[in-house]
Amino acid sequence: MDPDPKEPLSASDPTGSWGLHRELKAASAVATFAESPPAQGVRPVVEATTRKKAQPAKGRIIAVGGGKGGVGKSFVTSSLGISIARHGKKVVVIDADLGGANLHTCFGLSAPSLTLSDFISRRVESIDDVILETGVKNLRLISGAHDHLAASNLKYTQKLRLLSHIATVDADFILLDIGAGISFNIVDFFLIAEQGLLVVIPEPSSIENAYRFLKMSFYRHLWRALKSSPSRKVVEEAMDQKNSDGIRTPIDLLDAVERRDSATGRYLKERALSFRPRLLINQVRYPEDERLGASMASVCRRHLGIDIEAIGTVCFDESVWKANRKRRPFMLDSPESAAGSSLDLVAQALMFGSRTSARLERQN
Ligand SMILES: Nc1ncnc2c1ncn2[C@@H]1O[C@H](COP(=O)(O)OP(=O)(O)OP(=O)(O)O)[C@@H](O)[C@H]1O
Ligand SMILES: [Mg+2]
Repeated sequence: MDPDPKEPLSASDPTGSWGLHRELKAASAVATFAESPPAQGVRPVVEATTRKKAQPAKGRIIAVGGGKGGVGKSFVTSSLGISIARHGKKVVVIDADLGGANLHTCFGLSAPSLTLSDFISRRVESIDDVILETGVKNLRLISGAHDHLAASNLKYTQKLRLLSHIATVDADFILLDIGAGISFNIVDFFLIAEQGLLVVIPEPSSIENAYRFLKMSFYRHLWRALKSSPSRKVVEEAMDQKNSDGIRTPIDLLDAVERRDSATGRYLKERALSFRPRLLINQVRYPEDERLGASMASVCRRHLGIDIEAIGTVCFDESVWKANRKRRPFMLDSPESAAGSSLDLVAQALMFGSRTSARLERQN
């Protein structure tokens, strides 16, 4: 059992309780929020208390999440992996969707017999033992756990071992495809990464889940930053949406900690700055969908105090299912398609640390 005292927000908790309901509706209708300026600077490495101190990450870890199922997390992870590998970097993609692993299908592979399950259950000692070739040059795969019960109920110690070993994988880039939901087991994969990429589609449920995911990840990030501080209790309280302290948003939380202990409050505000996920809008069909990323970034900044960057958009593209039907990895089948070109721009923005929106580059 994860020893954290607080459970994540319940799925039924309405986002209205964040005081964001109107904004969410407006964002999902792609209302005219002011375009947010691009964030400055390269995002610093997020501290990972779960990572073994003696084993710093060898490669850059990028986690692809989204809070909601079916938005294209696996499609984006596999496509970015192939794109980065085609730029000559060594890549390992890891299927960290412990409840519904299927990343191998994006590479046209049958379910491998050696998976993360073998590592989690210690049938093999090293994570290197479950790394598989994909047939794509420079790109290897760690396939997801298939014994769902064991995997999705990952014990706390198993999670720590897994997270610390992921950081030792020898590659330039390690891409994590993380599952849907906002449980700590999912959020912790997001937080181990140097860069968290949130995949959202222009649908209200996806937008709502993405806000929930962001909020829970941010609270967890702050909780981890406080380590043994007594102020951790305030964060734990805040994770309960119906807390009696009246803390409804991360901004409330940071203020509450500062009121309790001004030095810790200042420290936490500093640490809060290192939480800077990026947002990818997938399955875009209409021109107004292109503005969703900027709208969400604006809402996050004003209401949650979280600085996110809209890194790009990917259109809904028929060539994706055509590649699926052929069991061909999309980025090998249709790299020149509209979706393929956008994904390659996003891959380059991630690789070269450019803060320039891939969408803006595409327009030029
Ligand atoms: N831009 C796109 N254009 C067309 N189809 C897409 C696009 N993005 C994703 N899809 C399709 O949407 C479906 C869901 O994608 P995917 O499996 O990657 O989602 P997911 O978020 O990983 O889902 P899950 O949470 O169930 O693992 C797939 O059939 C995928 O091919
Ligand atoms: Mg998936």
